[in-house]
Order: sequence, then C-alpha cells, then structure tokens
Amino acid sequence: MHRKTFYVLAAVAAISGGAALAEDMVDPGKATYVQYCAACHGEYGMGKGAIADMFTAEVPDLTQLSANNDGVFPMLQVIHVIDGRTGVRAHGGPMPVFGALFSDDADMGPYGGPVYTRGKILSLAYYLESLQK
Ligand code: HEC
Repeated sequence: MHRKTFYVLAAVAAISGGAALAEDMVDPGKATYVQYCAACHGEYGMGKGAIADMFTAEVPDLTQLSANNDGVFPMLQVIHVIDGRTGVRAHGGPMPVFGALFSDDADMGPYGGPVYTRGKILSLAYYLESLQK
C-alpha cells in the first residue's frame, strides 16, 4: 500500500472509531433500549413498536410513566419491571423478563456480572426517565 494512502486510511479509522465510541458513551441506556425494548415500546417509548401489534395487551407508552405517577418518575418500580426477578411482576405478563439477560451470573465486563448488570439496568432506567413528557 502506498504510504500516503495508509495514513489517510488510518486517520479515517481513528475518526470513525472515536465517533462510535463517543456515541456509546453518550447514552448506554439508549443503546440498550433500542436493542431490547424498542421493538415493542417504539423507538421513542411511545408504544407502537414494530411487533406491538402481536399483543392483545396494549404496550404501554413509556413517556407517561411520570405523568401516571403524580409527576414523579417511578424509578424503583421501573427497575423492578426491567429486572423481573424482584417479584413485583410475579403475576406474569406479556412483557419478557430481562433478569436473565441482565443477570448477575453473566460473565460480562471487566468488573463482573453484578456491576455490569446494575449499570446496564440503571442507565436504561435513566434513559426512560429522560423520555418522560
Ligand atoms: C415483547 C414486547 C416487549 C418488550 C421487548 C419490552 N416490553 Fe415492556 N411491556 C410490554 C407490555 C405488553 C407491557 C404491559 C404489560 C406488562 O406489564 O407485562 C410492558 C410494560 C412495561 C413497563 C411498565 C409500564 C407501566 O405503565 O407500568 C415498563 C417500565 C416497561 N415495559 C419497560 C420495558 C423496557 C425497559 C424494556 C427493554 C428492556 C421492555 N419494556 C421490553 C412489552 C414489551
């Protein structure tokens, strides 16, 4: 490869790599949301995701969680809903339980499963809080 071409390619790789990283850093909660929740709850949390029609139960509008709770974001309840292991949702429901996915046992991340799991659920909950109308 021509030396000059190599430098240009290296610079492009550095820039795009950095941009992707910056995006992840900005909002890990959003990345998790888009990956695991948007199909049902919609891109902006307002319901009507791509597969929402498959449910007889209505997929709730997640931008109204505060409005439905006297203007206070129900942080703990949201964490429990996502986590699914706390018993709050023991009655079952159409929404999948994410406890296994975000499991403490998961061998993920340099600091181990529990830190990874809590960080992920918390950033997701903060992201949902940011969507409140
Ligand atoms: C397969 C479809 C589906 C997916 C995927 C899904 N949900 Fe849900 N979600 C539902 C349905 C249906 C309900 C309402 C019935 C229930 O509670 O089970 C619900 C309820 C909720 C509630 C309670 C809303 C309220 O008004 O109390 C929250 C919070 C929530 N989901 C967050 C999430 C988050 C965060 C994710 C991603 C980690 C997610 N959901 C993924 C279908 C889904």
